[in-house]
Amino acid sequence: MLTLTTAAALADALQPARAQGKTIGFVPTMGALHQGHAALIDSSVLRDDITVASIFVNPTQFNESADLSAYPRTPLADQQLLAEHGCHFLYLPGEADVYPQGAAATTETALDLGDLVEHMEGRQRPGHFAGVVQVVRRLLDIVQPTTLYLGQKDYQQVAIVRYMIERLNLPVQVHTVTTVREDDGLALSSRNRLLTTEERRAAAEINRELAAVTAGLRSARPARELEQLAMNHLSQVPLLEPEYVMVVDGRRLQPYQDGQPVEELVVAAAVRVGQVRLIDNRIAGTA
Ligand code: PAJ
Repeated sequence: MLTLTTAAALADALQPARAQGKTIGFVPTMGALHQGHAALIDSSVLRDDITVASIFVNPTQFNESADLSAYPRTPLADQQLLAEHGCHFLYLPGEADVYPQGAAATTETALDLGDLVEHMEGRQRPGHFAGVVQVVRRLLDIVQPTTLYLGQKDYQQVAIVRYMIERLNLPVQVHTVTTVREDDGLALSSRNRLLTTEERRAAAEINRELAAVTAGLRSARPARELEQLAMNHLSQVPLLEPEYVMVVDGRRLQPYQDGQPVEELVVAAAVRVGQVRLIDNRIAGTA
């Protein structure tokens, strides 16, 4: 695997593959890689000729400076994991390469994300998705992949990036990869390594509660009641502080109304576990 630290060097490295019409799969990440990221790399390696990963802890999508400074960074282990999974190129830039005019200069062209940011992460983390859209747009411009690989773990992020690609008419496909979980069901996350042993154990309740809501929806129980019940259960678990549990129409990211026909029914949650904030979701099917 070749590591490039500038957009110019990456363009040069990819030029031969592009000239030969090869497909390029791209996996953007913020590092501290785990088996969830590895699943995205595996998917790209399987489906595309060339796989490019990026590691960039994008400051503009952090709405809490403590979260940004605490964000785990493990560049050596990351490079090893990527190489082991057959990734061909790693783009590992500094901030000046991603934002040559400064990060603030590029937010002016921001897309109006409308209803898509009204709930869940959009509500709890103001400005977060503007930062995600800003960086993904810039990274797509640099890498120019044929397919972008994203994890279902960040459900709202996938919906918003798909919307951006559609609105800007960008020539790239999106491929979503199922969430990879620990044996006890906890979704893998770079932030999990910041948890103490007790917090780690408590965090497994998040997925159990999402599974309970999913089961409740299948037996046609009212969505609002299931959300409330899950909030109550999670707040009773020591060390957990739930922010939201929401049953949404996965396409519009709006609260699901019982009986409404939807393509994809999703249960999403955000929970504070000590100093760490975790998100997860489960697809409950169609309704
Ligand atoms: P990061 O949190 O590093 O995640 C990179 C990619 O890995 C995302 O598409 C995310 O959904 C996926 N991912 C994380 N945990 C996963 C899991 N347990 N199973 C499957 N996929 C998982 O998401 C970001 O970085 C950033 O917002 C980014 C898109 C890179 C823009 O800065």
